[in-house]
Amino acid sequence: DADTGFLRTLPKAELHLHLEGTLEPELMFQLAERNGLELPYSDVDALRSAYEFGNLQDFLDLYYQGAGVLQTEQDFYDLTWAYLERCAADGVVHVEPFFDPQTHTARSIPMSTQFKGITRALNDGQEKLGISSRLILCFLRHLSEEDAFTTLQQAMPWRKHLVAVGLDSGEKGNPPEKFQRVFDEVHRLGLGIVAHAGEEGPADYIWQALNLLKVQRVDHGVRCVEDPALVQKLIDEQIPLTVCPLSNTRLKVFGDMAEHNIMQLLEQGMCVTINSDDPAYFGGYLLQNYIAVRDALGMTEAQAIQLARNSINASFLSEAEKAPHL
Ligand code: HPA
Ligand code: ZN
Repeated sequence: DADTGFLRTLPKAELHLHLEGTLEPELMFQLAERNGLELPYSDVDALRSAYEFGNLQDFLDLYYQGAGVLQTEQDFYDLTWAYLERCAADGVVHVEPFFDPQTHTARSIPMSTQFKGITRALNDGQEKLGISSRLILCFLRHLSEEDAFTTLQQAMPWRKHLVAVGLDSGEKGNPPEKFQRVFDEVHRLGLGIVAHAGEEGPADYIWQALNLLKVQRVDHGVRCVEDPALVQKLIDEQIPLTVCPLSNTRLKVFGDMAEHNIMQLLEQGMCVTINSDDPAYFGGYLLQNYIAVRDALGMTEAQAIQLARNSINASFLSEAEKAPHL
């Protein structure tokens, strides 16, 4: 409808997107066949029907299993390119995707294979689709800080292809403070810093991400509402939250979209953005997330414009690079 057309044509950035989470079942089966691997599902429909999650860990188990089909540079290219084509269809003008190198190096897939495939697709995205991008490497927080240090070392030949380093995977029991030293090193290297915090974990993890890791954005962050002083800080300092509405309902962070707090956070003056997180698993790319929020919570045109502008402003682009999209 006309309303959806309006949301589509708004220039939007996506700031919270795991490339491995864009692996559609169809591509997963194609890559499994190409690489001579057997998947524990009879077909695409059987796989899709397994996407029923009670919490974050239920999802992560399938997400890491699915990523096992990614082996060659071309696999990483095809994954990234398919995502960029979806972005073009949704009116996404800029992306800052995450990837999880440890889930691949653990399977003996070299860092170079991952970077080459992903960056070649991102370059083509700029050339052929006009979509700009900046890449973010994420450490897996269920692994040790030592493993994160090793990963950072392995990525150093590719440093110029990275804008920032993030922190993802199972949040409970893996607080930001576990990674304070490695993010000190990330800071010394002049890279940006983001972290998942306050998705399933408590508001205190958001404080730790801000005060100990010195993050520039908080990924998810929706549990900030449990601490009024934190809410005030996020508003005062306009620290962006990369909120993922369909993810939050599919992983039962909120029981239903009608219970989601994103519009409440926006109305309080927080710099919130809408993102898709792992769209192949959660049932929708960026535009579908805007539509789901609009339908369940109501969103005026002015609020849609504000959310889209927030996404551009919260990006790692320079002010000159943001200007054409604002
Ligand atoms: N949270 C934590 N780790 C993740 C997520 C998420 O939403 N998606 C992919 N890895
Ligand atoms: Zn995420």
